[in-house]
Amino acid sequence: MKNLLEIIMPASLAVVAGSIVVCLFTLGNHLTPEPVREEVSSCAGMGPLPQPVKLISALPPGAEPGDIAAGDALFKGNCAQCHAVNEVVVGPALAGITKRRPMPWITAWVKNSSKLVASGDEYAVKIFNQYQQQQMPSFHLSKKEIEQIIFYIEDNGYRPAIGTDDVAYTPPKP
Ligand code: HEC
Repeated sequence: MKNLLEIIMPASLAVVAGSIVVCLFTLGNHLTPEPVREEVSSCAGMGPLPQPVKLISALPPGAEPGDIAAGDALFKGNCAQCHAVNEVVVGPALAGITKRRPMPWITAWVKNSSKLVASGDEYAVKIFNQYQQQQMPSFHLSKKEIEQIIFYIEDNGYRPAIGTDDVAYTPPKP
């Protein structure tokens, strides 16, 4: 009996360890720097996952490859002197802005924030007062360019690490 266990135990441990290695390897292959629009729903050797794992490299909904890089350049050229994605600089941290405001509001704000404040828009007046009534400049950017900036912001905001709900992703400091 003991002899049999001595054979079965290491063998089954090896199978489990092997599955885990294969699984991690498969996940690792998907985590390329190129944005991929994909969900992993099963892992080789371990059967289907309880729910699909959303990959960190997935593009924000609606974004095309190339939008993030374009948005990055536009953000650095126009917004970065006052804004960062994840921390307050002169203006607010912009992470999560699409959850706070609808896209048409964001576009109107970037094109002419003073006009929105003057119109009495409740949110605009509130944030304007909250930031000591500092006027954000108006930008002659197209709707598409503003969308690209927002895609870049969404792509770089804090997000949970794979498979966890409560661990914040901290981007590496440049
Ligand atoms: C000269 C500084 C400055 C620049 C440049 C600037 N902003 Fe702002 N932004 C602000 C300030 C200050 C606020 C806070 C509201 C206010 O005081 O008008 C703000 C607020 C915002 C808000 C609302 C944020 C929230 O949490 O509700 C958005 C969205 C925004 N800016 C986007 C942009 C984008 C996109 C660019 C680049 C195209 C940009 N800003 C460039 C200073 C700036």
